[in-house]
Amino acid sequence: MASFVIGGGNKLAGSMEIKSAKNSVLVLMSASILTQEKVVLHNCPDITDVHKMLDILASLGCKVSFVGGDIQIVSPTHLKTEINQALASSLRSSIFLLGALLSRTNKGKFAYPGGCNIGARPVDIHLDGLRKLGVRIEEGQDYILCDSKRAKSGYVKLALPSVGATENLIMASVFLQGKTIIENCAMEPEIVDLQDMLVQMGAKIKGGGTYRIEIEGVDSLHGVDFTPIPDRIVAGTYIIATAMTGGEVDLGNVRAAHLDSLISKMPKYTCNFIYKDDRIIVQSGGRHTNARLVETWYYPYFPTDLQTQFLALQSIGKGVCMIVENIFEARYSAALELVKMGADIIVRDRVAVVRGVPKLNGRDVWASDLRGGASLVLGGLVADGDTIVHDIFHIDRGYEDMAKVLQGLGADIKRIE
Ligand code: UD1
Repeated sequence: MASFVIGGGNKLAGSMEIKSAKNSVLVLMSASILTQEKVVLHNCPDITDVHKMLDILASLGCKVSFVGGDIQIVSPTHLKTEINQALASSLRSSIFLLGALLSRTNKGKFAYPGGCNIGARPVDIHLDGLRKLGVRIEEGQDYILCDSKRAKSGYVKLALPSVGATENLIMASVFLQGKTIIENCAMEPEIVDLQDMLVQMGAKIKGGGTYRIEIEGVDSLHGVDFTPIPDRIVAGTYIIATAMTGGEVDLGNVRAAHLDSLISKMPKYTCNFIYKDDRIIVQSGGRHTNARLVETWYYPYFPTDLQTQFLALQSIGKGVCMIVENIFEARYSAALELVKMGADIIVRDRVAVVRGVPKLNGRDVWASDLRGGASLVLGGLVADGDTIVHDIFHIDRGYEDMAKVLQGLGADIKRIE
């Protein structure tokens, strides 16, 4: 299995460009089956999750290609309605196909989705919402069988503002005659991106990014050429990396507004941000003072997907920081590995208390989920000596060629297979 070998101590310097957001691209790929015309998505990251979604779409009968960052998808007249169990369980985001597949074919058989080991990740809110729209659902031991022949527009209030459930319900309602209202929606930028693409395809949707979304059913959708939003989590990870190494990095293709909750918690005196059009320059120097409290919550609050990278940053600051993870219950696995590197972190349930130490030491550490894996790389960039991050297939799910990107910024990192 592949690993990263990282020699710590180099400051990151230079510039880099951020690709389209994984969490948007995967959903928009699912939405592509809502039309039989060509859907083109630009600037997509070459990551394993995207390849898995391409495989799933191909298994349903779609013609797919991924060349030079551009994904093209053409969905056939007769889409298959069953998603291969092995493929579905290897990709959590396969669940996003549920709403789109029901809209196109009126039925679907799904395996329970796989994905990161960060908590239970149930799909009850997705299924409850679909049931409220009249979809008949049979839940077996390891499959979900759905029939939407009798589905009709209606009113759904989500029990929690789940990102995936909001996206699925939007896709499930685009063709339902009349008006569907979804309340307590997730407000993540990825929801707005989905709305924007579907509206360009001819859908009638409004309210994306707010508490209430309204969908007026249309008869059909057409093809689209679309550039998804930049990846705020990848950008945030490299912002934190720059802050940790005391360097200066110019990040292109970023939306500052999407990063507000992170930047407001970044060290004030040792970390400076310069904003220019779609670029952010991060300048950092000196040992920072830790934030006192960071709590993850739904957008626009601090994202759970940046929590463990932020924990790595706090592990080398001055003072004590309390981190509270309110979204996923098992998101501190990287903390134990950072402790092996010398970090002083105590974890109890959803709370981590980090007392910053002056330095980390290079060790062998193991990634066990995507974002946690990234935080170990960040630790390695500042540790004394060599760090080997094992099981980087987790990192490959969401970061395109992380070693090459970091080498380009002057880090001493190489990938070994
Ligand atoms: C999406 C993101 C993921 C991010 C998460 C939270 C994608 C591909 N993934 O995941 O990177 O970490 O949002 O911002 O976009 N829940 C239920 N029942 C459900 C659905 C969710 O109880 O049916 C709970 C979850 O356990 C969690 C919370 O709701 O506590 C939020 O989950 P959700 O927003 O659905 O996350 P995902 O859409 O899976």
